Amino acid sequence: MTGHHHHEHPAYTDPARFWDERYGQRDRIWSGRVNPVLAEVAGTLTPGTVLDLGSGEGGDAVWLASKGWRVTAVDISSVALDRLAVEAERAGVADRITTVRHDLTQGFPPGRYDLVSAQFFQSPLVLPREKVLPPAAEAVAPGGRLLVVEHGAPPPWAGPDTGHHRFAEPEEILAAMNLDPDGWDTERLGAARRTATGPDGQTGELIDHVVLVRRR
Ligand SMILES: C[S@@+](CC[C@H](N)C(=O)[O-])C[C@H]1O[C@@H](n2cnc3c(N)ncnc32)[C@H](O)[C@@H]1O
Repeated sequence: MTGHHHHEHPAYTDPARFWDERYGQRDRIWSGRVNPVLAEVAGTLTPGTVLDLGSGEGGDAVWLASKGWRVTAVDISSVALDRLAVEAERAGVADRITTVRHDLTQGFPPGRYDLVSAQFFQSPLVLPREKVLPPAAEAVAPGGRLLVVEHGAPPPWAGPDTGHHRFAEPEEILAAMNLDPDGWDTERLGAARRTATGPDGQTGELIDHVVLVRRR
C-alpha cells in the first residue's frame, strides 16, 4: 500500500474532471436506490420542493419525484446529470425534476426549498463544509429542513487505504452550517446504522452520520 493523501489527489485541482472520469468508468456506479435515511426523513414529510445537492445518478431524485416532490438536482458532473435525466424519463417523473450543473464550492442555485438534502456529498473527496453548508442552509424555506448524511466510518469491506480519511462527527457537520441558534431546531444529530451488501456480496454494517435541522 502506498501512502495516499487528499492533497496529492489530482482531482483536488479539478473536481469536475475527477467526477466525470469516475462516472465515465462504468455505466452506473451507485445502486440507483434511494438512500435509507433520506427515505425515512422525507417519508414523514408532505412533499414540496427539494434541492438535492450532489445528486449523482439520481437514486434519490427519482424516488423523491415519484413521491410527489418537485426536485432540483445539482451535481458537478454532467455525466451523472445526463444519467439522472435518463433514469427520470424511464421512471416517468422527468417533468418533476430539473437538473443543474454547478460546482457548489463556486456557486449555488437560487431559491428556497422545503427540503435541502446532501447525501454522501463529501466522499471520496473532501469538500469544504464551511463553504457549502451555509448556502445550503440559506436555501431552506421557513419551516423547511436541511438533511446532511455523511459516512461515519469506512465500510467493513474497505481496504487499508481508506485509513487516511477522517470522518466528521455529526456535531462538526452541524457547526459548519453556521446556523443562527434562534432560527433553527435540531431534529436529528447522531449516527445511524444500517446493513448493506458489499462489492463481493458480503453483508456488513455501515454507519451514517446524520444531521437534520429545521428552520423556524
Ligand atoms: C459520493 S457521490 C453521492 C451521490 C448521491 N448523492 C448518492 O448518494 O448516491 C458525491 C456526488 O457529489 C458530486 N459533487 C462532488 N463535488 C461537487 C461539487 N463541488 N459541486 C457539486 N457536486 C459535487 C459528485 O459528482 C457526486 O455525484
